[in-house]
Amino acid sequence: MSIVRKTPEQIARMRTAGRLAAEVLEMIAPHVKPGVSTGELDRLCHEHIVDVQHAVPAPLGYGGGDGRPPFPKSICTSINHVVCHGIPSETKTLKKGDIVNLDITVIKDGWHGDTSAMFCVGEVNPFAQRLVKVTQECLYKAIALVRPGVRLGEIGHVIQQHAEANRFSVVRDYCGHGIGEGFHEEPQVLHYGRPGTGIVLEEGMTFTIEPMINAGTFQTRLLPDGWTVVTRDHKLSAQWEHTLAVTATGCEVLTARKDETF
Ligand code: MF3
Ligand code: CO
Ligand code: CO
Repeated sequence: MSIVRKTPEQIARMRTAGRLAAEVLEMIAPHVKPGVSTGELDRLCHEHIVDVQHAVPAPLGYGGGDGRPPFPKSICTSINHVVCHGIPSETKTLKKGDIVNLDITVIKDGWHGDTSAMFCVGEVNPFAQRLVKVTQECLYKAIALVRPGVRLGEIGHVIQQHAEANRFSVVRDYCGHGIGEGFHEEPQVLHYGRPGTGIVLEEGMTFTIEPMINAGTFQTRLLPDGWTVVTRDHKLSAQWEHTLAVTATGCEVLTARKDETF
C-alpha cells in the first residue's frame, strides 16, 4: 500500500466531512456536564450525525476481527486514565473534576473527517488542566510545522519535546493516520521521533495528528472489552485531534472549530 494524495475536488469533499465532525464537537460541548452519561452523549451525537447531517458515524461497527468485537457505539468517550477508544455507556456518568476526550469521526459522501477534543467537567484541578492545555499545545505546534518538504519525524519531534519538557510522556502504541475514503490510511503519524526521519510531506496528503499525552508512564493496557485503552499506571491521559490537508504553502485544518485560529 502507499500514500494516496488527494485532488482539490477530493479535498473539497473532505472539507465538508471535516466541518461536520467539528460541528458535532460544537453541538455536544454544552452537554458535557456533571451527571450526564457517556451513553447519553453518544446518543446525542449519533442522532445529530444521522438525522441532521445525513452522515454516518464511522466508529459504529468499525473494526473487529481476530476475536475482537466491532466498536459498538458512534463516538469514543475516554475519561481520565482512559487513553483512547473508550466505549460510551449508560452507567458511565461524568463527575465534577473529570477530564474527558470526545472523538468524532463522520463519513459524508464516502469521505472521512476525524477530530477529538478534551472537556473539563465542572471544576478540574490545576494539574489536569495543565495536561489538557499542554496536549493541545503539542497538536498546535505540530500543525504549525506542516507544509510540503517537512518530514514526519519533525512533527513527532516537536510533540515529544513539548510533552517531555513539561514532564509528561507520549503514548507510543497509537498514532495519527492518513485519512480519506478510508478511516485509517497510510502513513502512520507518530507523535514522537527525530528530525531527518520519516516520509517527506507533499501537497495533497491528508492525515490526522492526534497526540495522546500521559501524566505518568507512556505505557498502555488494553481492557478485556477489546477497545478501551488505559494508562498502565492509571494516571491521567489527554488527547486532541485534527484532520489536515497539506497545501502548497502549509496546511488546511479540515476539522477546525469556529473558535480556533491557526
Ligand atoms: N477516531 C479514532 C481515531 O482517531 C479511531 C476510533 S476507532 C473506534 O483514529 F472504532 F474506536 F471508533
Ligand atoms: Co484519528
Ligand atoms: Co479520532
